[in-house]
Amino acid sequence: MTKLYRKLAVMIEAALAAASASAALQIVPAPRKAVEGDGSFVCNGDVAAQVKFESDAAMPKEGYRLSVAKDGIKVAASDDAGRFYALETLKQLSSKEGKDGTKVPCVEIEDSPRYSWRGFHLDECRHFFGKETVKSVLDLMARYKLNRFHWHLTEDQGWRVDVPGYPELVKYGAVRSASVRHGERAYTGTKEDAAKLNGVKYGPYYYTEADLREIVAYAAARHIQVVPEIELPGHVYAALAAYPQFACRPENLAARDPRLVWGIEKDVLCLGNDEAIKFMENVLDWVCKVFPGDVVHIGGDECPQIRWQSCPKCQERIKKEGLGDHNGLQPWVTRHFVKFLADRGKRTLGWDEYLLGDIPKSAIGMSWRESRTGAGHELVSGAAAATRGHDVVMTPCSYCYLDYRQGIEEDPFLYIGGKVTLERCYSFDPCAGVPDEAKAHILGGQGNNWTEYTWNEYDLAWKVWPRMLALSEVFWLGEAKPGFADFKSRAAVQRDWLIRHGVNCAPLE
Ligand code: ACM
Ligand code: ZN
Repeated sequence: MTKLYRKLAVMIEAALAAASASAALQIVPAPRKAVEGDGSFVCNGDVAAQVKFESDAAMPKEGYRLSVAKDGIKVAASDDAGRFYALETLKQLSSKEGKDGTKVPCVEIEDSPRYSWRGFHLDECRHFFGKETVKSVLDLMARYKLNRFHWHLTEDQGWRVDVPGYPELVKYGAVRSASVRHGERAYTGTKEDAAKLNGVKYGPYYYTEADLREIVAYAAARHIQVVPEIELPGHVYAALAAYPQFACRPENLAARDPRLVWGIEKDVLCLGNDEAIKFMENVLDWVCKVFPGDVVHIGGDECPQIRWQSCPKCQERIKKEGLGDHNGLQPWVTRHFVKFLADRGKRTLGWDEYLLGDIPKSAIGMSWRESRTGAGHELVSGAAAATRGHDVVMTPCSYCYLDYRQGIEEDPFLYIGGKVTLERCYSFDPCAGVPDEAKAHILGGQGNNWTEYTWNEYDLAWKVWPRMLALSEVFWLGEAKPGFADFKSRAAVQRDWLIRHGVNCAPLE
């Protein structure tokens, strides 16, 4: 296409989008079925107080029927979540009428989600955002019908929860003596990388048990389950800074400082040390009590095995358990914690690598790498895991990683790399490449926010919105999504709303 034709195509698309915008309901995610009527319902005060609710056991989970007529509003649902989402839809449909009035267009909506897992992930370890930011994230999640808050609470660079009986975790693990300077990239800890540190103490930043319970309750009131992530056996360097005896080489942790640069740490949990296993059991036992949801995430990604290869305790474990070699250690610890959590009524979730080896089918995978077919990778693609009978949450980095550049001009913020445009997010299909007979194992998807290059709520909001709008529609509607042009016109209205409500939403480029 020549430049002129490309420009014309863009103008025509925009005109079509504007035309459909004036007719369609301006909400995200779009409702599955909507028939607009004539006129509006108008009232003074809280429109939710005007709703007549009825129960309809035939409605799908989280689904609702919303009927807005000039003389009243009715909602039918089979569960509280459905009633809640009907009210969220109503909020998006409402506009001001006169000084104190509210107007809702007459409409019949029948709506329900395609996927049960509609997730949002936040890493609070590389940078910490705190309770108020988390609450505003939860408010927006509810508005866009997202229902799983995956909270990444432990990492090489920071441990963010105060676990009873382990005071050193926050004393050492929740504060680092320096971080990578703004605008620099440092991953390996070489001398050149050390020169990129800012010398500024970061923390201590962490949540108390009371904070965690407050957030869990705040989320539950919005029909959001908090899914805590406690990483093991890798990405545990901040915990090892607190308790060096749980590393294969405690002497490497003499500085008692979490990892200062980004990237993957070679010092991981010593799986030959019964005390290290007991430590994680105690942490997870407490986590099970504080987080009432049915799923706990145990990480499992990017765990180098080099320390295990030369550690006498790890070698002894391999011999005693008949694990063959160091490759058998991670599956062994995964099996251990899948059972440990099952005994406490929880299902285990982990990044796709943790499904390598003989892992119980009750373990859920979170697929973050692209499907690969090379040797050794078959088991970790989401499609392959689902085919083998694991439930899977799809979060492939090239569609769902919001720390990747969004491809807008004049972007003032930094990114880890990659490129995930708004349109790319919208084109995501969690079931792509999954055989029909395995599709029931795809629970849904999630937008992931890693925060090496995200410092505060403004930076975070810019990266999340509007891309999370696109993902929310993908997770709610699946194959029934109406198309990018249609979405974009509604997303423009949502962007205006977000900006009016103080959310630093990026442009829809
Ligand atoms: C990941 O992005 N390392 C799960
Ligand atoms: Zn070891």
